Order: sequence, then C-alpha cells, then structure tokens
Amino acid sequence: MGERQMSSITVQPHQMLERILSLEIVRVTERAAVSAARLRGHGNEKAADQAAVDAMRRELNKLPIDGTVVIGEGERDEAPMLFIGETVGNKHGAKVDIAVDPLEGTTLCAKNMPGAIATMAMAESGTLLNAPDVYMEKIAIGPGYPKGVVALDAPAGENIARLAKAKGVIPAEITALILDRPRHAEMIGAVRATGAAVRLITDGDVAGVIDTADPQTTGTDIYMGIGGAPEGVLAAAALRCIGGQMQCRLVLDSEDKRARATQMGIKDPRKIYQIEDMVKGDCLFAATGVTTGSMLRGVKFRKDVIETETVVMRSVTGTVRWIRAEHRELEKFHLD
Ligand code: FBP
Repeated sequence: MGERQMSSITVQPHQMLERILSLEIVRVTERAAVSAARLRGHGNEKAADQAAVDAMRRELNKLPIDGTVVIGEGERDEAPMLFIGETVGNKHGAKVDIAVDPLEGTTLCAKNMPGAIATMAMAESGTLLNAPDVYMEKIAIGPGYPKGVVALDAPAGENIARLAKAKGVIPAEITALILDRPRHAEMIGAVRATGAAVRLITDGDVAGVIDTADPQTTGTDIYMGIGGAPEGVLAAAALRCIGGQMQCRLVLDSEDKRARATQMGIKDPRKIYQIEDMVKGDCLFAATGVTTGSMLRGVKFRKDVIETETVVMRSVTGTVRWIRAEHRELEKFHLD
C-alpha cells in the first residue's frame, strides 16, 4: 500500500491504520466494560475480571493487527488469558504492543463503587515498557508546567510547594490524589502539612493519573504514591496523548522481582521512568466506564439498549474523543 492522499494532507499507510484502529479499539474496551458491568455489585472480583478479560480478548482477536500483550493479566504461568507475551489480533496487520487492564478496579466493580473502567493502549511494536506485575512509585501532573517542576525523589511537601508556585497559587489551593493505603500515611501527612488537600481513592489510579490532566474539571492537581506498574504504563500512554508529566520507578524489593524484571529486559532496577521511557513512540489509549466515575459514565442497561461511554486518545494528533454509544444488537453482547 502506497501513500494515500486525503484532501490536501498526505497520510502514510501506518498512520491510516492507526486512524482506523483508534476507533476499532473503542469496541474492545466497550465489550469488556459491558461484560464486567453485568457483574457490578455481585461481590465477585474474579468473575467480573474474567468476564472483562474474555470479552476483551475476543474483540482484540478480531482486530487487523499482529499484537503482543506486553502489559496484561500477569505472567504466563499465572494468567491463562491476556498474559504477558500472548499474541493477539488476526495477524494481518501492523506489529503492535498491547497494554490491557480489562477491568481496572475489580473491587470497585464487585462493590458497585465509582470509577471502575476497562482500558487498553496500543503502540508500535517494541515501544511500550515491558513491566512485571509489581508495584510502582508514581508522581504525575498535567500539562502546562515547566519540565521537572516535581520530582519522584523530592519530599512530598516540597513537590506540593513547587507545584503551587508554578501554578501561581498557595499550597492550600492544591489537591493531591493518593491511593488510600497504610503505606501512604507519611506522604498524606506531609501533603496535609503544607495546607494542601488530599483526595483519597480506594482503587483505580489509571483514572487518578489522567485526572491531573484536567484539574479545572477534576479538581486534582497531582497524583502521588505507589500503585501497580501495569496501571502506570497505561496511565503513561494516556498522558503521552494529552500531555502532562509523570515519573515512575518499579518497586523491585525482592530477588524474585528483580529476576523477573531482568528477564523482561530491565537493566537498571532503580531507573526513574519518564513518560517517553514507558511509551517510546506514538500510541492509542482507550477506556470505557464500567461504573460511573470522575472520568467516565458507567454502562447503562436499558430495555433494548446498552449505553457506554468511552474516551479514546491518539498521541499523533493529541485528539481526544468522547464516544457515547447506544448498542442495539444486544444478542451480540449476550454472546459475551
Ligand atoms: P485491580 O483492578 O487489579 O484490583 O487494581 C486496582 C488498583 O487500585 C490499581 O488502580 C492500583 O494501581 C492498584 O490496585 C494498587 O494496588 P493495591 O490495591 O495492592 O494497593
């Protein structure tokens, strides 16, 4: 396939593919979200996750891609589907890396609490960080600040002060989003000591990081703390599309974790990753709401219609599309 002329803009073949795929991946997260949403509030994390995984895998395998899961449900021996290294797609297409979290916030879904999403990212082969399923230290802010205004290794209070100064406000006007975990007690205390507000979430730090990109709407200026590494790479893909800064470091606190990381090609276990280190090239990111949260509405089941809301982003252009869909071919969804 040669270059194609679309109006006066020359589009390269790989860009065309990406344009098509950016809409195709919406179906993938939509299906996963609908399948998980059927199990909202059933108190069964595993069943909800499995439903999302099955649906996502089925949809991924219909895509015209030669994909490899680099961020998935776990390593091959512990996850039967969408494990790291699994190949997906119909193999008739571009070689791509895939990062998935079919149900981000399994507990949120099982308890029918706000903020569960189905999410994935796609990028050119070899460009997404192959991270083991371990914890990751993270700090993230939205776009529009000078590079390096906050730093992963700076004390929490100092980061708040620096961010407030850069924003032109007093620390009391800054809100930091942090996962509500005992491991964050000291960080929470340090943030509060500056006068800044802490917003605690019980789960779901992919959306938590993305919230920082639009503080005006979300009220969140900064994300800080330790969450999952797979979630970190997914959030980095989103920020790669919409702008912002993120610094992360894998928590490799045992021989076993360091060995797993080495096997995945990680040479420096203490490396601080910037967005460009986690997502080295252009990418696509999509997320569909399972339960209504700060970013997305959850799936709505009406009599003959299923409604979904999805955000899909494309780094090449920085386009962000909000797609509210009404699905009427319900038998398709019942097959899931
Ligand atoms: P799951 O969907 O796998 O339950 O992850 C939810 C989550 O809250 C992530 O958003 C976050 O990165 C991670 O768990 C934090 O891990 P932990 O619950 O062990 O503190």
